[in-house]
Amino acid sequence: MPIKFDKNTRQFHLYNDDFSYIIAVYDNGSIGQLYFGEPLSPNKDYPFLAPIPFAGFSNNIRSAARFEYPCYGRGDFRLPAFSVRLADGAGVVEPRFEDYRVYPGKNTIPGLPSTYTEGTDEAETLEITLLDKLSGLKIILSYTIFSAYACIARHTRFENTGKERIILESALSLSIDLPDSAWNMLTFTGSWAREFAVSDAPLRAGFQGVHSAFGVSGSIANPSLIFRRPETTEHRGEAFGLCLLYSGNFIACAEVDCWDITRIRTGINPETFSWILESGGSFDTPEAALGWSKSGLNGLSRVFHRLFRTHLESGVWRDRERPVLLNTWEGAYFNFTEEKLLAMARKAVDLGVEIFVLDDGWFGKREDETTSLGDWVPNRDKLPHGIAGLAEKITAMGLKFGLWIEPEMVSEKSHLFEAHPDWAVGVPGRTRTEMRRQFVLDMGRAEIVDYLFEAISSVISGAKISYIKWDMNRFITEPFSLALPPDRQGEFFHRYCLGVYSLYSRLTAAFPEILFESCASGGARFDAGILGFAPQGWLSDNTDAVQRLEIQRGASYFYPLNCIGAHVSTVPNHQTRRLTPLLFRAAASFFGDLGFELDPTKLSEEEAETIKECIVFYKKYRRLFQQGVFSRLDATADTAAWMVSSEDKKSAIVAVYKLNAKPNQKPFRVRLAGFDRAKVYHVSLWEPTHRAGLTFDETDKCLNCGLRGGDELTSCGLLIDNTSFAVSIIGDFYPELFLLEAAE
Ligand code: GLA
Repeated sequence: MPIKFDKNTRQFHLYNDDFSYIIAVYDNGSIGQLYFGEPLSPNKDYPFLAPIPFAGFSNNIRSAARFEYPCYGRGDFRLPAFSVRLADGAGVVEPRFEDYRVYPGKNTIPGLPSTYTEGTDEAETLEITLLDKLSGLKIILSYTIFSAYACIARHTRFENTGKERIILESALSLSIDLPDSAWNMLTFTGSWAREFAVSDAPLRAGFQGVHSAFGVSGSIANPSLIFRRPETTEHRGEAFGLCLLYSGNFIACAEVDCWDITRIRTGINPETFSWILESGGSFDTPEAALGWSKSGLNGLSRVFHRLFRTHLESGVWRDRERPVLLNTWEGAYFNFTEEKLLAMARKAVDLGVEIFVLDDGWFGKREDETTSLGDWVPNRDKLPHGIAGLAEKITAMGLKFGLWIEPEMVSEKSHLFEAHPDWAVGVPGRTRTEMRRQFVLDMGRAEIVDYLFEAISSVISGAKISYIKWDMNRFITEPFSLALPPDRQGEFFHRYCLGVYSLYSRLTAAFPEILFESCASGGARFDAGILGFAPQGWLSDNTDAVQRLEIQRGASYFYPLNCIGAHVSTVPNHQTRRLTPLLFRAAASFFGDLGFELDPTKLSEEEAETIKECIVFYKKYRRLFQQGVFSRLDATADTAAWMVSSEDKKSAIVAVYKLNAKPNQKPFRVRLAGFDRAKVYHVSLWEPTHRAGLTFDETDKCLNCGLRGGDELTSCGLLIDNTSFAVSIIGDFYPELFLLEAAE
């Protein structure tokens, strides 16, 4: 049983083979955090982990204590996990331990995405109930420990069992106090077209972190953090991470206090939140997943990949291989006719593509970004036979058909806006900030969600549609809901997010066979919350292969490869004008859900042949690419390298991307990860990359090919030779893809 409670010491010990998490009920009934790390014996108690009393001057003992869900105004001067305003205006409560229960498996959270179990033996859940007697505020802290992962899923539920109204001014999902601050914090920040940039810096005294405050999790920062010991690498050492399953405004932060204790918190951003709990009311926070690894950052990523891929992604597509798609956006933008689309589709079939996705521009009078969002009826000038007619013709070619929608938006120039100007978010009497010439619908209003459910359902059910790309192309400004009274305007953003989730859950339930892909100007809502509904996402509008390597690498810290949409586009690249070889672009996109975003009718014969070859290769290995064990490998400043291997360690693919050709360089070794040291592997170079490397020296041999021991591959690695004259001739952007199969 992975959760134990010792009645004498009043310590809860959550543990599995990989880690332990110990919580204590302190003498005064508050809840303390005692330990989080490598597994400790469950058959002992740990009284010495309790805080050492310390009497300071202006900081009393509580400042030095470590809590699980700290409150405000009782002598702990760090930022709290929650705060309230009671009917008399006071903000002080004294939540004290009341009770606990342990149950097998895991419950869902009303209205919110959450990780789940399929059998009760997969996890156990602890609920600790705290009560503030004076106000009747009940706080239920929930911890699920999974038996197979070094991971805890946490969430908090508030219940008002008193008679008076309670205002929640902040209600975070997770707070944890760690005994020291010798950690580096990794954040994943950026902006449009440069999502998931990794920054890695030592913690310092005081407050540090990331947040969003514009209605979506955003591309500016992902709702996730990693902490590593200074000596921890990708392959070894202690690290932990937290990831919020939420798509709205969030904070994820650390505070190093005057005793060098590190408080880490994540949850809904309190800056843009308040929630009224009437008597009898309740509020659930989003879930936060806390993962642990002693085998470096790759080990931590594996915890999250496995958890998210098998216990968060859901529906029939969870375990299915994801289809190779052609998306029309960069190939046609708004300029298409049925004829043009059919020509693209015909060529796509020839290439081996499986789904043809019609992106923006098919509805209303949409010729550019200025009109028609909200009018989800086909533009008959472009598509005389509508979506149904187009889908019919495309599916008759043997392709599946997919469609782009942006349900949460409305253009000022649209029938929907004419009919319901009051549905667009804005503050009466004030101008609306313009972004991409569109307004946001107030998704917190049930009648709008109902309307959208009907409108989108009729589009989907009226045609042979197998895939939906759900976009969201602007952040929210002037937050205000006409449907909320003045004292509930603080609920706007969370209600918006609940509305989005409600529409997602209704549509995914109504159309279970459809593959949903989430998007928000690329990766502005690429989070674990949306992953609970849409099993894949469009990571970035930046399709430049060199930058994709960075963006995909950043996303790979938490998100499994089968949720990462990765498309090959044309050159010069539309975002950077960079020229890269097709093979390089494809090799970058293999590590995700491969797609193409170009006009296939414009390909040369040679390009078409290369794409065919790439698609055949990808289809053969896509289960490995999409569901395999992913590792980031150590390379050089001019090289990137990563790999996927099968769970049984019998096969693997290693990619080494040479970015910046330099003559006469020292060869270097890329050490591989996740192999069976006792096995022998047959190493070969994927033929097209081998061929591409032979432009000068036809006799060039693959140095690494042949039989290699797992021990040798792990401890010494593959030799990457940049000295070859051939490499200089090839120039920049050369990929080498090694195939490794265990010899019988
Ligand atoms: C966003 C998406 C793109 C494309 C356009 C269409 O930018 O990220 O992939 O769908 O919208 O307007």
